[in-house]
Amino acid sequence: MSQRGEGIMMKQGEELMRQLLLHTRKFGGTTCAIYGSLGAGKSTLLRFIVKKVAYVDGTKIKKETVVWRGRTVNDYWNSFDPARCILWFQENDYSEEYGRVPSFNDEYGNPIDINDLPVIMTYHDIPDLYNGIKTYGLGKINIVYETREYSFNEVIKDILKKRSMVSSREFEDKLVDIALFWYEFFYYLIANKTNEFLTVIADEADDLIMQSPGQLRWHAQLWLKDSMKSFRAKHISFFLATHHFSDLDGRLLSKINYGIYLKGSRLPNTSQLWRNKVKLVPRGKGYVEADTYGMFAFDDMKSKPHIVVHFNETEELKQRMEQRKEEADELRRKKHQGRSEEGREHLRQHMREVRSNAKKDQIDGMV
Ligand SMILES: Nc1ncnc2c1ncn2[C@@H]1O[C@H](COP(=O)(O)OP(=O)(O)OP(=O)(O)O)[C@@H](O)[C@H]1O
Ligand SMILES: [Mg+2]
Repeated sequence: MSQRGEGIMMKQGEELMRQLLLHTRKFGGTTCAIYGSLGAGKSTLLRFIVKKVAYVDGTKIKKETVVWRGRTVNDYWNSFDPARCILWFQENDYSEEYGRVPSFNDEYGNPIDINDLPVIMTYHDIPDLYNGIKTYGLGKINIVYETREYSFNEVIKDILKKRSMVSSREFEDKLVDIALFWYEFFYYLIANKTNEFLTVIADEADDLIMQSPGQLRWHAQLWLKDSMKSFRAKHISFFLATHHFSDLDGRLLSKINYGIYLKGSRLPNTSQLWRNKVKLVPRGKGYVEADTYGMFAFDDMKSKPHIVVHFNETEELKQRMEQRKEEADELRRKKHQGRSEEGREHLRQHMREVRSNAKKDQIDGMV
């Protein structure tokens, strides 16, 4: 590319990045997926985004409220200013009485001094989490740990039953897919959020929007897609990072307005960018594409050793969980048996009818 050409590309790219990261009431929230091979700089770019993301309030520009999906391994929220962060845990995940308390180490196994951690708060359920963020976490980085024991509430059961037409037995299993915690969170936001700006960030997001989901999850991801349709108008922004677009459920890609391609990215067929240029883009630069495209630059940032969160459980709680798992397995076994018994009975009935019709035909033939 000529120097002039690259200059124009950079100008267009920086403008797109500005639109992506500076939200206005008129244009609302933005959704963006960041792609790149191992070590391309996705996590660094997410940190850059957290620092930059803001909204226009009258004549002022204000820092946006961020919800950061907390991970148990390889997380790096310790690189943010702890005074701007709140760590959120479900109340049973941070309760000596219940039997579960997290501990924080760095990736080399060194414990992290409790004084170096951000403020820790607990939530009861998703409405309580949202209220907590609104009360204490506006303008902050809210690092949210999904509950260890997510189970459906009645409203969510009802929604998924209607969408998937699966029997209510499917929902008797108490411990369900943790991604549903986030789908419920988004659904709650769409229905109840007031009009402040909120940015949700998920690194390594392929488990959240997985490419080939199982039966219930297949329907649940479509449910997420429906929520995503309202993100812009509800002033919700969503940034996710993964290696390749093909790691994600293709049905949801149309709801992601911006694509960012770092080193080693593959391009979806819908992209107007050039395959080879994107593959070889240097570290610290990337291509951004929405209705137009361009290039942008981002700096490396100092980082601390990654965080590992371990949930310590008492023996009693472990036994309780084990028992619940066994009960759920037993239920599943019975369900399976019941189904095949039903099937066999159906077949027997069908054969009886076939035989009796054949007999009738024989008799009619004789008459
Ligand atoms: N803008 C940049 N300039 C120079 N080096 C960078 C830049 N961004 C990231 N790096 C360096 O590249 C390395 C990998 O960065 P990062 O962890 O952000 O990549 P990643 O895509 O998230 O990797 P992974 O696929 O392992 O999650 C780090 O050592 C980081 O310091
Ligand atoms: Mg990373």
